[in-house]
Amino acid sequence: MARLLSSLVLLGALAFACQRDWDALHRRIHQHKVYNRHAKRAVVEYPPALTETESILVNSFDNKSLSDWSYYYTHGDHLGSHNKTMAEWTAQKWQDAGFNAYLAEYPIWVTYPEHSSLTLIRADGTTHEANLVEDVLKEDDTSSYPNLIPAYHGMSGSGNVTAEYVYVGRGTQADFKVLEDAGIELTDKIALANYGGIYRGTKVKNAQDRGMAGCVIFTDPLDDGEVTEENGYAAYPNGPARNPSSIQRGSVRFSSIYSGDPTTVGWASAPDSPRGNVSDYNPSIPSIPLSMKDALPLLEALEGHGVTAKEANRSGWTGGFSNITYDSGPAPGAVVNINHLMRGYIAPVWDVIGIINGTSSDEVVVVGNHRDAWVIGGAADPNSGSAILIELANAFGKLLDKGWKPRRTIVLGSWDAEEFGLQGSTEWVESHLPWLQTTAVAYLNMDVGVSGPRTSFSGSGEIQTFVVEQMKKILFPEGWGDFPTLYDMWYNTTEGEISPLGSGSDYASFYQNGIGCIDIGSDGGSTDPIYHYHSNYDSYHWMSTFGDPGFKLHTTMGQWLTLVLYHIADDVLIPWDLPNAGTVLQAYFSELNDTVGESDFPDLDISPIGDAIDEFVHQAEHIAAIAEQAQIFNDEVILAVVNSKYRDFSRGYASAGGLPGRETFKNVVSAPGIDNGYGADVFPAVTDSINKGDEEATNLWIEKTSKAILRAAEILEVGTGY
Ligand SMILES: *[C@@H]1O[C@H](CO)[C@@H](O)[C@H](O)[C@H]1NC(C)=O
Ligand SMILES: *[C@@H]1O[C@H](CO)[C@@H](O)[C@H](O)[C@H]1NC(C)=O
Ligand SMILES: *[C@@H]1O[C@H](CO)[C@@H](O)[C@H](O)[C@H]1NC(C)=O
Ligand SMILES: *[C@@H]1O[C@H](CO)[C@@H](O)[C@H](O)[C@H]1NC(C)=O
Ligand SMILES: *[C@@H]1O[C@H](CO)[C@@H](O)[C@H](O)[C@H]1NC(C)=O
Ligand SMILES: *[C@@H]1O[C@H](CO)[C@@H](O)[C@H](O)[C@H]1NC(C)=O
Ligand SMILES: *[C@@H]1O[C@H](CO)[C@@H](O)[C@H](O)[C@H]1NC(C)=O
Ligand SMILES: *[C@@H]1O[C@H](CO)[C@@H](O)[C@H](O)[C@H]1NC(C)=O
Ligand SMILES: *[C@@H]1O[C@H](CO)[C@@H](O)[C@H](O)[C@H]1NC(C)=O
Ligand SMILES: [Zn+2]
Repeated sequence: MARLLSSLVLLGALAFACQRDWDALHRRIHQHKVYNRHAKRAVVEYPPALTETESILVNSFDNKSLSDWSYYYTHGDHLGSHNKTMAEWTAQKWQDAGFNAYLAEYPIWVTYPEHSSLTLIRADGTTHEANLVEDVLKEDDTSSYPNLIPAYHGMSGSGNVTAEYVYVGRGTQADFKVLEDAGIELTDKIALANYGGIYRGTKVKNAQDRGMAGCVIFTDPLDDGEVTEENGYAAYPNGPARNPSSIQRGSVRFSSIYSGDPTTVGWASAPDSPRGNVSDYNPSIPSIPLSMKDALPLLEALEGHGVTAKEANRSGWTGGFSNITYDSGPAPGAVVNINHLMRGYIAPVWDVIGIINGTSSDEVVVVGNHRDAWVIGGAADPNSGSAILIELANAFGKLLDKGWKPRRTIVLGSWDAEEFGLQGSTEWVESHLPWLQTTAVAYLNMDVGVSGPRTSFSGSGEIQTFVVEQMKKILFPEGWGDFPTLYDMWYNTTEGEISPLGSGSDYASFYQNGIGCIDIGSDGGSTDPIYHYHSNYDSYHWMSTFGDPGFKLHTTMGQWLTLVLYHIADDVLIPWDLPNAGTVLQAYFSELNDTVGESDFPDLDISPIGDAIDEFVHQAEHIAAIAEQAQIFNDEVILAVVNSKYRDFSRGYASAGGLPGRETFKNVVSAPGIDNGYGADVFPAVTDSINKGDEEATNLWIEKTSKAILRAAEILEVGTGY
């Protein structure tokens, strides 16, 4: 159990693009080293030469244009539901490139703070009022923009609470257990958690489940690894360290149990939709984010009280302020007042959809990025991806100008309201489900395309090999070390590790309906400039000065995504590696086996899943051999059969009634960990049932999971006639 939790925490850093955990990122481990074909084979030429079409696509990327698109997206309020003009501008850009583009509108539940304040009242009566907005910097024009969006936790509860408070480390189940075991009273107190490890909403849920009255989550310097002021780095805007006033906004909805609009879980939001009660899906207690500067007085006031950090002995408990003891408190007489009034209402949001029809209308590839941001800027999250999507559309425009038509239909999505809880993408998927289930070949997600030079991606086994191969074709810019191609940077960063998909960005609804997905992005390593995630300083100024001066990384990431999309859309044979999908299932099975070994049911029989995987591997090898033959003989009939099976097989993974307790999460192969929120659990229904100690449910889900894998294997099966 302890091992499981720690591996989940670390995987959490790798499995999502939007909501990365900085601390864990700096201490990567390699739990899922499943991609084993990275060895540079005896290639005649490295990097490999591009075809004429590939050259057109890659050379179309222009850093000046990327900078222009980035500037546009980062100079106006574009919080979910706030900016239809920006959606229309995006549609126009895609239309100019030759796509058929339009808006798709959905009315969804949104929250916005009417009032927010946090005051520390010390035992001696002195007070400290927290600043819930970043300092204005003359170098960064967006830090003083009109109509700045307040720093808040989307989907938080409301309340005016004054209470003693307790430092709870990262706020994991195990952290709370330490406090409970030490006899610290938690009921009606306020939790003070640092941002590390797990998804922020899970921390709030853990506090609420223990009867606590509110939650404060702060940024600790521990999250910044090497690059801190204490280590001698100047803070933004003068240097690469974190500006101490930066605040991490973000949603605190219960992300591991649903995605999308919390009033229409499981169906699309339309003006006349029936709507449910949000209270099952969002916290009811108030919750507020805090900068590291404003957390300091709160931590200082707890010193000498409660459980010491040494006694707690929990990873991530002792933070990065070397002069703070990180004692839990509560400190008698030291109280915090949170006064947080949230307004919830239904408002329209606007996805932008862009389409080029393929010659084969029953095969569709979707590529998407969200557009909404927590702040006026959002230069990395998400608008590095948005700028890239416009250049990607322009690159395909160059081919369209020459009369080219893709074999498969290409759909671009610019999703709104991702930050509130993946609303734009989820409602779109829910309103196009039968069509997507019959036609979707894959969904490709880019969220934070660039927040630093270190590339990573997560995704489905069958897609991985070919996505890695495309990286070898992309030259890596100078200035970030000696890496000839993107592949070299990726391998240096990840050692070939590709994580399973959890949640935290717009792939979730596609993947949970059995559509193969990848999620690609890049971020900073332990010595790169600190990325001010969900802060006012995620701005054009930061990006063009520290994150990606010259927009070279934007170019690189965009070229990669473009080649990936081009090949999926246009190759005669969909470029999947089914044997690798089998290898990935085997690696996940071995992790499940470890979980079982350390659980309360070490003798549990999970062999039905192992047997199903054996059958899958057999069918995967068989169809790969047939595909190879069909290519050699250019047998169009067989190629069409193989393509349809490559498109459909992963639908088998979706379990119709959903995973236990979360009916819209259906994929039996991976899903966000219930107690983590971002990072993936593999074979999640089995893992959850084991963790709950429910042997009957565990056995039921071993059976259902093995049947789902057998369904996928059966779809792959090519009759003896071939
Ligand atoms: C929408 O975004 C654009 C571009 O950033 C900006 O110019 C405009 O002022 C924004 N509109 C609103 C209503 O904030
Ligand atoms: C919030 O609570 C404080 C202390 O309990 C009280 O003084 C204050 O008037 C309350 N504010 C509102 C807006 O209710
Ligand atoms: C939603 O549920 C909560 C808790 O059960 C209840 O207090 C509230 O009145 C409900 N709201 C609506 C609109 O039904
Ligand atoms: C701290 O926890 C680790 C395992 O998490 C354990 O090995 C170690 O003995 C503990 N240290 C103390 C002082 O309890
Ligand atoms: C601890 O260090 C911070 C700077 O890192 C400083 O602002 C703060 O005043 C110090 N606190 C104490 C109690 O010395
Ligand atoms: C694309 O295909 C769809 C469905 O087959 C059709 O309705 C639409 O008119 C086509 N669009 C264009 C621009 O050809
Ligand atoms: C990554 O690059 C650094 C610096 O060039 C080098 O020291 C390190 O060994 C590389 N790591 C891997 C896994 O290639
Ligand atoms: C684009 O790249 C060129 C060549 O490296 C550089 O001189 C220029 O400043 C870059 N443009 C922008 C807008 O960053
Ligand atoms: C499962 O774990 C046990 C130890 O708990 C080990 O003996 C066995 O080889 C493992 N099986 C697989 C398939 O990994
Ligand atoms: Zn994002």
